[in-house]
Amino acid sequence: MPSLLLSFLPLLTLSLALLSLPAKPQPSGTTMPDEESETLFRIMNSMSSDQDWRSSYPNPCSPGSLSWPGVECKPGDDNYIHVSRLDFGTPPNPSCKTTAKFPDLIFSLPFLQSAFFFNCFTETRTTLSVPSAGLLSSSSLQQLSLRSNPALIGIIPPLISSLKSLQVLTLSQNKLNGSIPPGIFWLTSLVHLDLSYNLLVGMVPPQIGNLKSLIGLDVSYNSLSGTIPSAIGQLGQLQKLDLSSNLLVGPIPETVNQLGSLVFLALSNNGITGEFPSRISKLQSLQYFIMENNPVNAPLPVELGSLARLQELRLSNSGYSGTIPRSFSQLVKLSTLSLQNNRLTGEIPSGLGNLSQIFHLNLSRNSLSGVVPFNAGFLRRLGKNLDLSGNPGLCLNQTESNGINLGVNLCKNDSLILPLQTSQSPSMILPIMMASWLHQITTWLVIQYVIVVNLTYYLM
Ligand SMILES: *[C@@H]1O[C@H](CO)[C@@H](O)[C@H](O)[C@H]1NC(C)=O
Ligand SMILES: *[C@@H]1O[C@H](CO)[C@@H](O)[C@H](O)[C@H]1NC(C)=O
Ligand SMILES: *[C@@H]1O[C@H](CO)[C@@H](O)[C@H](O)[C@H]1NC(C)=O
Ligand SMILES: *[C@@H]1O[C@H](CO)[C@@H](O)[C@H](O)[C@H]1NC(C)=O
Ligand SMILES: *[C@@H]1O[C@H](CO)[C@@H](O)[C@H](O)[C@H]1NC(C)=O
Repeated sequence: MPSLLLSFLPLLTLSLALLSLPAKPQPSGTTMPDEESETLFRIMNSMSSDQDWRSSYPNPCSPGSLSWPGVECKPGDDNYIHVSRLDFGTPPNPSCKTTAKFPDLIFSLPFLQSAFFFNCFTETRTTLSVPSAGLLSSSSLQQLSLRSNPALIGIIPPLISSLKSLQVLTLSQNKLNGSIPPGIFWLTSLVHLDLSYNLLVGMVPPQIGNLKSLIGLDVSYNSLSGTIPSAIGQLGQLQKLDLSSNLLVGPIPETVNQLGSLVFLALSNNGITGEFPSRISKLQSLQYFIMENNPVNAPLPVELGSLARLQELRLSNSGYSGTIPRSFSQLVKLSTLSLQNNRLTGEIPSGLGNLSQIFHLNLSRNSLSGVVPFNAGFLRRLGKNLDLSGNPGLCLNQTESNGINLGVNLCKNDSLILPLQTSQSPSMILPIMMASWLHQITTWLVIQYVIVVNLTYYLM
C-alpha cells in the first residue's frame, strides 16, 4: 500500500500544483523591453498634451502601477509586456497637443495591434507618413483608425500596403487627397475599409474584387470618378456598401446581384444612369437602399417590391417615370419611402396604406393623380411625415381629410373623382364636368326631397 501511494505521490503533487494555478495566466514578466518603452515615451512626448507622462508613469503597463490612459498592453511569449493598443484624442484617452504630428514611430512597436487617432490633428498640418517597407511588414497592426482630423493632409501612402495584418482601416473625415493607392486592394485581410469624407480622386479600380473578406466598404463623400467596377460583385461577404456623393457614372453593374449579404446600399449623389440590374431582387438581405439624386431617368423597377426586408427606400430626385409599382405594397417592413422630385404618374397604389411600419412617406413633386387612397387613421399616424404636395392631379377624399393639411386639394366631389390624367383632352373633361353638374343637381333634388319629407313628418 505505501509503495502504491508513493508511486501516486508525484502525480498528486503535480495535479495540486496545476490546481493552485490561477484561472488566468499572469504575465511572468512585469516589464516592457527598454527599447519599446523608450519608443512609447517618445510617442507620448510628441503627441500628448500631458507633458509629464514619462515622470508620471515611469513603468509602462507594469502590474500594480497606475492605469495608463490611452495605452493597453499584453504579455508576450517572451516574458515581457508589450504595447498592444494606443488611443489618442477622445477622453479618457490623452488629448493631442496642438503641435502633434502623425507619429510614424507607432510602426516601430512590433506588438501594436490597434491605433486610434480621433479628432487629434486639428491645427498643425501633418501627413500620413510611414517608415520603410521593412519596418511596416514586421508590424502586427490589425486596426488603424484616423478619424476626424482636419489637419491630416496629403496622400494615402502606397506603402500602407505593407501592413499585411490590417483588418480595419479607417481614414474617414480627414483631408487626404490623391487617388486610392492600388496596394490597398492587396490587403486581403481587410474586413472594414472606410475612406469616407476626404478629397480622394480617381477610379475605384477592379482590384477591389481582391478584398474577399470585406464586410464594410465606405468611400462616400470623395470625388471618385468612372464607373462602379463589376468586380464589386466578388465581395461576397459585403454587408455595407456606401459610394454616395462621388462623381460615379454609368449603370449599377449587373454583378451587384451577387451581394446576397448586403444590408446597406447607398449610391446617392452620383451620376448613375440607366436601368437597374435585372435581378436586383436577389439582394434579399437588403434593409436600406438609398439612391437619391442620380440621373437614372428610368421606370421604378417592379422587382424592388420583392426585397422583403427593406426598411428604407429612398429614390428621390432621379427622374423616375411611370407609375409607383403595386409591388411596393409588399414591402411590409418599410418605414421610409422617399420618391419625391421625380416624374411619377398615375394613382398612388392603395396598398401603400396597408404598410403598418411606415412613418415617413414623401411623394411630393411628381405628377401623381387620382384620389389619395389613405384612410384617416393612416393620415393621422404619419402626420407631418406624409408629403404629397406638388402633385396637382391628386385630391383628398373629404371624409378622410379631417382637417389635416397635406398640401393636397380636397376632391371636388368624393363619389365622382375619376383618375384625372394630366394629358386629358378638353373633349374628355367636358363630359366629366357635365356629369358632375348633373350629379350636383340630383343631390340637390335628393336633399330637397328629404327636407320636404321631414317637413311633412313634423307637420303631421
Ligand atoms: C494634396 O494636397 C496638397 C496640399 O494640401 C498638395 O500640395 C498636393 O499637391 C495634393 N496632392 C494631390 C495628389 O492632389
Ligand atoms: C389592404 O388590407 C386590407 C385588409 O387587410 C385588404 O382587404 C386589402 O386588400 C389590402 N389592400 C391592398 C391593395 O393590398
Ligand atoms: C419631401 O421632399 C421635399 C423635397 O425634397 C422636401 O422639401 C420636404 O421637406 C419633404 N417632406 C417631408 C415630410 O419630409
Ligand atoms: C370617400 O370616402 C367615402 C367614405 O369613407 C367612401 O365611401 C368613398 O368611396 C371614398 N371615395 C373614394 C373615391 O375613395
Ligand atoms: C359633392 O357631392 C356631394 C353629394 O354626393 C355634395 O353633398 C357635396 O356638396 C359635393 N361637394 C362639392 C365640393 O361640391
